Amino acid sequence: MNSPRKVVAITGASQGIGAGLVKAFRDRDYRVIANSRSIKPSSDPDVLVIAGDISDRKVAERMIKEGMAKFGRIDTLVNNAGIFVAKPFTEYTAEDYANVLAINLGGFFHVSQFAVAEMVKQGSGHVINITTTLVDHAIDGVPSVLASLTKGGLDAATRSMAIEYAKRGVRVNAVSPGIIKTPMHAPETHATLAGLHPVNRMGEISDITQAVLYLESAGFVTGETLHVDGGQVAGH
Ligand SMILES: NC(=O)c1ccc[n+]([C@@H]2O[C@H](COP(=O)([O-])OP(=O)(O)OC[C@H]3O[C@@H](n4cnc5c(N)ncnc54)[C@H](OP(=O)(O)O)[C@@H]3O)[C@@H](O)[C@H]2O)c1
Repeated sequence: MNSPRKVVAITGASQGIGAGLVKAFRDRDYRVIANSRSIKPSSDPDVLVIAGDISDRKVAERMIKEGMAKFGRIDTLVNNAGIFVAKPFTEYTAEDYANVLAINLGGFFHVSQFAVAEMVKQGSGHVINITTTLVDHAIDGVPSVLASLTKGGLDAATRSMAIEYAKRGVRVNAVSPGIIKTPMHAPETHATLAGLHPVNRMGEISDITQAVLYLESAGFVTGETLHVDGGQVAGH
């Protein structure tokens, strides 16, 4: 009997790492539920696009409900949507605080609840959270308190969820990127950003998609944060 085709839900899928993940999973013949606020409809019948703000619980619910209705299962969720606001700590506004928490934490919380409920019914599933190496390794000159506050929460929640669901077939892991060449960083900053990594280069989107696909295939790995950061967390 053929095993059913797998289904992955990816947030923040319109560009950068998320768009790279859509391609990487489609290349493995996964069916994809893709979300972002401005994402365009897809002509690919194996891609279901759910446009909207993932911090809105109704959008998160639609992503999983409509995905289940169309594809009948949900094997993997990649919580990739995220924003980075680099400001000195005392210059963050109340609006910055609310936005970063809503997207980086709310964007994980709501959709993960709906997805994990389905995974538990299936008896299998995998959640992958995209964090940042700044959680473990702050950089002088790159102010990042709100990134550490929110992605640090995701990092810790990765282990909590992994243990809570370990006996029910659901794995939970994280990928912790260094600085990756995506639209998040203007090309004129690349040379400076490269120098922040011991390997003296920025990461490529493929460095992150390979790590996600490794975790996806690694059935004995759960509760792990895989650093893909050109050595940043190891030291300087
Ligand atoms: N690039 C890096 O150096 C780096 C380093 C460490 C960690 N990360 C993390 O990796 C993830 C992807 O980063 P990236 O560099 O690919 O970023 P990016 O190029 O800025 O893309 C971010 C994606 O998230 C979507 N998004 C933002 N807010 C959203 C919301 N409220 N609801 C739904 N989607 C939303 C954006 O699309 P819309 O605008 O259409 O919503 C876009 O598709 C983020 O979580 C980021 O924190 C990146």
